[in-house]
Amino acid sequence: SKPLKVALLGAGVVGSQVARIILNEPDTLEQRIGRRLELVGIGVRNLDVPREGIDPALLTTDLDGLVSRGDLDVVVELIGGIEPAHALVQTAIEHGASVVTANKALLADELGPLSRAAQEKGVDLYYEAAVAGAIPIIRPLRESLVGDEITEVMGIVNGTTNYILDKMVTDHLSFDAALAEAQALGYAEADPTADVEGHDAAAKAAILAGLAFHTEVTRDEVFCEGITGITEAEIAAADQLGCTVKLLATAKLTSDAGSVIVKVHPAMVSRKHPLAAVSGARNAIFVNSREAGELMFVGAGAGGAPTASAVMGDVVTVARNRRRGTAGHVGAAYTHRPVAPIGESTAQF
Ligand code: HSE
Repeated sequence: SKPLKVALLGAGVVGSQVARIILNEPDTLEQRIGRRLELVGIGVRNLDVPREGIDPALLTTDLDGLVSRGDLDVVVELIGGIEPAHALVQTAIEHGASVVTANKALLADELGPLSRAAQEKGVDLYYEAAVAGAIPIIRPLRESLVGDEITEVMGIVNGTTNYILDKMVTDHLSFDAALAEAQALGYAEADPTADVEGHDAAAKAAILAGLAFHTEVTRDEVFCEGITGITEAEIAAADQLGCTVKLLATAKLTSDAGSVIVKVHPAMVSRKHPLAAVSGARNAIFVNSREAGELMFVGAGAGGAPTASAVMGDVVTVARNRRRGTAGHVGAAYTHRPVAPIGESTAQF
């Protein structure tokens, strides 16, 4: 049988890792999917960047041409940002390809419309890597827990800020020195403002809240306060109280379950709380639900290899669905719930 055709958009920290896995492990992937995968092209902005282990003949700067070929089974979008990623994903769906994306900024604005477009077209839209890197959290919310009633989602969903806070607390590094380390390790966004101002965490909180509460939440509806205002004195003061400082994302239902409250803010967390022990670029998410009770998901929240793991999980899953003709079956059934208006922060700083 013919191989399934995959196109990749982006060959940065995550994209190049994904390309290497697809190119280097064809037999394993074939076993897991039941059909061979063929990487037909990699859309990049700049052809001159050296990319170890990737045949330059695969590279193209014509991303629109690549997603418009009409014969693609899967498009993996790893360029990030809203445009041109949004237009490229829409074009891929219109041309009948399933889409895997790690693009939290895009999904935080467009998850609802893109999910509906994918469903209408009978293709998949999978995005496990968009939130908390390697940690499986999208599928648990979208599939495993869909028969339960989630009441609260809370966690650490930005590796860069967790790394910075951790280094400030344990190694007494300055904010700038800790940020430089996080950037060198490939955790930070191209513009780290999105990390340190909380916007990246807010995008992830919007995605998680929408899935958990079967509604649509966009990033501009999320209360957001970052960590740039935190001083070393405040960290020392928290320490005196037996606490550490974490950037938390929280989403919960109001007591009448009528609306959703979604926030990102720094908070003092008791050292006895399991979230206090989540160090470095690791992420952790608590989910509280009526039947399952408390669940915690923890692991690597950023970085090329961990994020590539989540992307590859999606690639294999959507490829299997193509092979079986079951693409487009994990849909969104929305209950409309308003998001509570952004009010005063309940943060401790
Ligand atoms: N900049 C993000 C972080 C990358 O630090 O968590 C993963 O989304």
